[in-house]
Amino acid sequence: MSGPISSSDQRFLRQFSTVIVILVLVAFGLIAIAAYIYDRMPQPADPALTSSIEARIAPVGASYAGAAGAAAIQAAQAAATKAAASEVAYGGTLNGQDIYNHLCHTCHATGVAGAPVVGNAKMWDPRIAQGLAVLVQHAMNGYHGPDGNFMPPKGGNPALSQAQIEATIKWMVSQVKK
Ligand code: HEC
Repeated sequence: MSGPISSSDQRFLRQFSTVIVILVLVAFGLIAIAAYIYDRMPQPADPALTSSIEARIAPVGASYAGAAGAAAIQAAQAAATKAAASEVAYGGTLNGQDIYNHLCHTCHATGVAGAPVVGNAKMWDPRIAQGLAVLVQHAMNGYHGPDGNFMPPKGGNPALSQAQIEATIKWMVSQVKK
């Protein structure tokens, strides 16, 4: 075919280029949408990060079975006790009454498990007669009295320091009415 482009061809070319322009615009639109969605999607995980997260969220009781498990439990308990001991109990307060109210009162307020009741001279006088140092040692290390009762070490809170125990005992002793 030669000669000038016929008017019907011109119409076709105009319409066809319009369609192409629209398709190009649609393609750019799709690219923009895809980029937007990709940005919002969680990125593929870094394997080092994944394994460190898995280690952190692994259940504590994971493989505590058999002899190896028993050893693991012991190690975990030792670590927990050590961690508790290295913390400071009750914000490190040396206020004996405060510490007593946190812990010691559970037994010493009413004489639970045979504990000498705070303020009871009959129960405390023979104990006070041993001297403060002995009372502190008994409260620090635990104490089986002659009557078969048991004062647990540090009242059961290993995070208490000796200074805190001593302050508490001084307060308890001060409550005995003369
Ligand atoms: C689980 C109960 C319990 C708790 C908690 C407890 N005690 Fe005792 N405590 C006892 C018992 C029981 C005795 C008596 C033991 C005996 O002489 O048979 C005792 C005895 C004592 C004595 C006298 C020891 C002696 O030589 O006669 C002191 C001092 C004492 N406790 C201090 C404390 C302090 C301080 C706390 C808190 C940090 C505390 N206790 C928490 C049960 C407890």
